[in-house]
This record gives sequence, structure tokens and C-alpha cells, in this order.
Amino acid sequence: MKIAIVEDDINMRKSLEIAMSDYKEYEIVTFKNAVDALKKLDDSFELVITDINMPKMDGIEFVKELNGRYEIIIMTGNATLSRAIESIHLGVKDFLLKPFDVDTLVAAIEREAKVLNAKKKSSKSNKKSVKDFLASSLSLDKVITIASKAAKTDASVLLLGESGVGKEVFASYIHKNSLRAKKPFVAINMAAIPENLIESELFGFEKGAFTDAQEAKAGQFELANGGTLFLDEIAEMPYGVQAKLLRALQEKEVRRLGASKATKIDIRVISATNANLQTKIENGEFREDLYYRLNTIPLNIPPLRERKEEILPIANAMVAQNCVKYGFEIKTFSDDARDELLTYNWPGNIRELLSVVERSVILSENQEIQKDELFLDTRK
Ligand SMILES: Nc1ncnc2c1ncn2[C@@H]1O[C@H](COP(=O)(O)OP(=O)(O)OP(=O)(O)O)[C@@H](O)[C@H]1O
Ligand SMILES: [Mg+2]
Repeated sequence: MKIAIVEDDINMRKSLEIAMSDYKEYEIVTFKNAVDALKKLDDSFELVITDINMPKMDGIEFVKELNGRYEIIIMTGNATLSRAIESIHLGVKDFLLKPFDVDTLVAAIEREAKVLNAKKKSSKSNKKSVKDFLASSLSLDKVITIASKAAKTDASVLLLGESGVGKEVFASYIHKNSLRAKKPFVAINMAAIPENLIESELFGFEKGAFTDAQEAKAGQFELANGGTLFLDEIAEMPYGVQAKLLRALQEKEVRRLGASKATKIDIRVISATNANLQTKIENGEFREDLYYRLNTIPLNIPPLRERKEEILPIANAMVAQNCVKYGFEIKTFSDDARDELLTYNWPGNIRELLSVVERSVILSENQEIQKDELFLDTRK
């Protein structure tokens, strides 16, 4: 693996060169500033490790210029940590707090090598970008493969899985990888809208359609026209509205409340639920005909406990992000804490993992986060 190290301090640069010369699997090329590096960097490089405070062009500008072409590790002193925060939005996930020892550097490089391997595997099969999915596992890869195929079509996708597994992440992934990517992605959560307002939210209304309708308003269907409509928590949709939804999807048109005429619409529908729709159908709470219309391509997203390979990569990336966010030195997990993360049941899935990591970063006393600082309820 060919790695560029950009560092203006000559002593630091030389000592990194010497330290890394023991690792024959890595070909290290150093640069004394970002401008030189930009001239020389080509496709043979895979990873860039850069300082932030440098003359001519600083590390953040540099990372912007690189525009996602390489994996990036930022080396920073506490003084510039706040600038490093900006780089998170540029896709940087790994930070080395100066001074660091060689082992820390090599561990970071190895993490990035793994990310790169995952990327290579997935680009071969024309799949994901790591930005959508922080980590990968066999079972997630299978879902991503189906999602990628589905994305290229207009077929309805039904996302199924426990709370916090990433259903919304997948909905947006499908949209971004579809022909409608440049058109709107409109998400509407059935559980978040009072039942009596769902219809007007979805279909809109004309002025005077009901007492409060002072002005006409377009519904989410119209706002999503040309793009993707994401119907989240679809099981919560009132039975009466389900028939209207089905009709709109079949006729490809919607009529605002109080309108005499219907408007043609062209949308792709993705829906999601963590409920068991079969049971809802048996209980007469969900329309079977709508179910078949929404369920052209079902996508089952497995719970985190069945994707254990993802736990540590996600946790590590999020520790770094949270440390930067809160201005702490970069923390790591103790071996015990790691074991605990791996054996825990994760009823709240990735959402729970993200909040556990954030909490432990905030509450841990030392550089190394201990098992009891995760505050996991292991009875679950
Ligand atoms: N593979 C992933 N990599 C990184 N972050 C992820 C991944 N999957 C999900 N997340 C994050 O986890 C959180 C929960 O994901 P999301 O909202 O998509 O779950 P959900 O299945 O829609 O949950 P719910 O059923 O509660 O609506 C979000 O903050 C999301 O960004
Ligand atoms: Mg959701």
C-alpha cells in the first residue's frame, strides 16, 4: 500500500520515515507541504496522512482539494483539534493526536487498510460507498447487493428490520443510487403525524377544503414528484388512508383534498416498518392489496447482533468523531470494553451503539474507555 505523509516539520517527517521503514508492506512517500503533494499524488497512492498547520496550504484545504480520492488520516496537536472538526464533514474518520507513537500510527494505518479492502471488494461488485455504511459485514453486503439492484429500477421497496438497524440509511442509499438521485427525496413518518392530518400531509389540500385551510398546500406526493417518497413506519398508516394511498400509487395521480381534479405524479415509493405486517394483515389493520403493492422488493436488514463484524469498526470511527466533537484527546476502548461491545445484545441496534459510544466518550475518566463506562444494560 502506498501512503503519502504530508508534514512540514522536518524532524517529525524524518522520524516518521525512519519509524515506518520497518514496515515493508507500506511504501511511504513524504512531502514537506500540501502544494508539493498535490502535484505528485496519483492513483498509485491509497492513503494520505497529513498535518493540519502547514505553510502555503493547510491540511483542511488540502483534504478539500483531494475531494475524497484517498482515505485520510489527520495528525493534529490539541491546538488545531478544533480545525480538525471541519474535516469530519469531508469524510475524515481517523485522527492521530500529536505526539503519538509508532504503534498508534500503524494501528491507524491498518484500520484504513481494512476500509480500503472493503471498498475494493465492493467496487468490484459495483456496490456501496463507505460513507453510507461505516462498516461492512457479510449479511449487510447481501442487503446492499439487493438494494443496489433495486435502486436502478422504479420498483417499490419495503424495508424491514428492528428499530435502529438503518432502514432510513438504506432508503436514502437507494434514492442516491437511482436515476432519480438529483430529484427530491421526501421522507414522511406515519408515526409522527396526527392521524387526522396524514391525508392532507400526503395529498395536500385546496383553499377552503376545511376550516383551517386558508391557503392551498401541496402534499408530500406532489413535493416528491420526479423523485422518491419514503413512507416511514408504514404500519402506523390509518386503515382508511391506506386505500387512498393504494389508489394514488396505482393511478399515478393524486387529488388534493377539496380539489375537483387529480394531478399526475411520477414517484418511486420506498416504505419501512419494524412491525410485522403479516400479523397486521391478519388482524385486519393493514390492507393486503397495499402490502403487495409496496412489497415488490422486500429488504430485510438484520439486527446488529447478527452483524457483529461491524460493531468495532463503527465504534472506533465514532469514538474518533465524538472525541473531536467534544474536544477530547482521542480515546480508545479497553480490551474488556471491546469484549462487552461484542457480546452485548444491542436491542436498539446501530442507533443504540452510536449513543453508547458518545456517552462513554463523554463520561470516561481516562484515555482508555473501561467496560463499566459503557453503562450497558447486559440483562437485555
Ligand atoms: N451501516 C451504518 N453505518 C453507520 N451508521 C449507521 C448505519 N446504519 C444506521 N446508522 C445510523 O444509525 C442510526 C439509526 O439508523 P436509521 O434511522 O436508518 O434506523 P431505522 O432502521 O430507520 O430505525 P427506526 O426503525 O427506529 O426508524 C442513524 O443515526 C444512522 O445514521
Ligand atoms: Mg427510521
